[in-house]
Amino acid sequence: MQKAALAEKKKGRRIALVPTMGFFHEGHLSLMREARRRADILVVSNFVNPTQFGPKEDLARYPRDFKRDCKLAEQIPVDIMFAPRNEDMYPTSFRTFVEVEGWGKVLCGMTRPTHFRGVTTIVLKLFNIVQPDVAVFGWKDAQQFLILRRMVEDLNLPVEMVGGEIVREKNGLAMSSRNKYLTNEEFEDASVINKTLKKAFVLIKEGADIDAVRHFIIKSISQTKYGKLDYVDFVSRSTLEPLEQIKKGDTLIALAVFFGKTRLIDNLRV
Ligand code: PAF
Repeated sequence: MQKAALAEKKKGRRIALVPTMGFFHEGHLSLMREARRRADILVVSNFVNPTQFGPKEDLARYPRDFKRDCKLAEQIPVDIMFAPRNEDMYPTSFRTFVEVEGWGKVLCGMTRPTHFRGVTTIVLKLFNIVQPDVAVFGWKDAQQFLILRRMVEDLNLPVEMVGGEIVREKNGLAMSSRNKYLTNEEFEDASVINKTLKKAFVLIKEGADIDAVRHFIIKSISQTKYGKLDYVDFVSRSTLEPLEQIKKGDTLIALAVFFGKTRLIDNLRV
């Protein structure tokens, strides 16, 4: 992959990368279309990265369908699907991790303390292998995107970072490979997340403060049949520090909600 990438660059071609863990849905495809517009060669990586799963998380049951992914990628079209094996990415001699200090311990990092160092490590490896000029990530994983953007800046990586908008199901639920785990009833119930965030946006426009909006979100999720709020936090997009007041253009409202064992995330940027 690295040899192919370097050869393309020698010819003056621009490379775009969309890193994924496969099991494509419309959210992935929209990132691929965005990346396609921005480069000559589109590479999509398809690798379920073990280092970003905790010991009690769903690595083994994470959904996979490589054949279907290939068919969907052809429609974009994707030039190269990079699907390495575990032992290629993490041989037994592997020892190096990269971490954006502190930023991986807040929000989703509170319950997934080693997740983001797994993400930054694999993405840095992918950048070194694929040599992209531009990389596209979804805003659904807002903390992931902000952490990766910080890493790119801190380590002077020559990669343009682009955030793609969240693609939603008809009922408003943010698309995610994990939606597959939901029962029909949970799926319908989970539409409350987006409805709540939309209403929160209206409240903010009307001048509500953080405490009022937080209270509204907690109450709204508690009124669902299946949803259990893991966290809702209001942080600065530039520092990931908690905010005391809404700061226009810099606020991230991030939340995670359990539906049964399935943990769903969504966010609102104000
Ligand atoms: O967002 C994902 O699917 C993964 O975290 C990523 C960026 C592909 C790294 O494994």
